[in-house]
Amino acid sequence: MGKLDGKVALVTGASRGIGEATAREFAAEGAKVALLARSGDVIADIAGALGADNAIAIPCDISRFWEVRAAVDACVQTFGALDILVNNAGVIEPISHLSDADPDAWGQVIDINLKGVFNGLRAAMPVMQAAGSGTILNISSGAAHGPVEGWSHYCASKAGAFMLTRCADKEAREHGLRVMGLSPGTVATEMQREIKASGVNPVSQLDWSEHIPPEWPAKALVWMCGPEADDYLGQDVSLRDEDIRAKIGLSR
Ligand SMILES: NC(=O)c1ccc[n+]([C@@H]2O[C@H](COP(=O)([O-])OP(=O)(O)OC[C@H]3O[C@@H](n4cnc5c(N)ncnc54)[C@H](OP(=O)(O)O)[C@@H]3O)[C@@H](O)[C@H]2O)c1
Repeated sequence: MGKLDGKVALVTGASRGIGEATAREFAAEGAKVALLARSGDVIADIAGALGADNAIAIPCDISRFWEVRAAVDACVQTFGALDILVNNAGVIEPISHLSDADPDAWGQVIDINLKGVFNGLRAAMPVMQAAGSGTILNISSGAAHGPVEGWSHYCASKAGAFMLTRCADKEAREHGLRVMGLSPGTVATEMQREIKASGVNPVSQLDWSEHIPPEWPAKALVWMCGPEADDYLGQDVSLRDEDIRAKIGLSR
């Protein structure tokens, strides 16, 4: 029996990295999964591999509310419900110092990393509240809680998204919703390749072997769907925490 049998999940940023691993892990645990990203062909291939009965691909730019709402509607129409939302999609480029950041590009990162999370909450919460239950997991970061050189856009957006986690929990817990964040630590994905190429701060100097595989946050997200994670409602779960890793059964 899968841990997510009978559940319907929507995962943003499912074309690669943590989002792809999450879509695959959720499907392996029995969930029906809607995969969202801008790269329609890529998510179509992944959904195809998971099987038409188990997964659908919905091309979507999460910075546009109307696209996110249409994606939620399509998910509910296809699978009959929305039990789990993983607000995972995010970007870090362009990495630059505040003093020479491009204002439009800086704002576009806020549109994706912060407003994209709002768009997911805004589209999914009414559906879940009407059903009386649901889990929303926002992918957070250590950058939500501390400044990092060259990442002002990323730190500000992740700090804002963390506050959205807290606000959503405050408003919706009484309606049966479980909202929390996952701070995964550093993960071996395209985003870390971009960080390494920038050469800007100590994170870019990390050896690749220090990053955890994307399957780890995927397994953590499955765990967060269960009542064992209820102590963390309205908070970030840190995957750097050895106690958390032990609870999830993760180790090198
Ligand atoms: N890797 C790490 O070390 C690390 C650490 C802490 C937190 N995180 C967070 O984890 C999440 C996933 O990151 P990752 O490392 O897996 O990065 P990644 O490999 O670069 O994947 C990012 C995903 O987001 C999607 N995306 C970007 N902009 C989008 C938009 N406007 N609309 C829809 N989808 C969009 C991308 O798909 P398309 O380009 O096809 O749209 C892709 O599927 C992010 O929120 C990131 O901030 C990562």
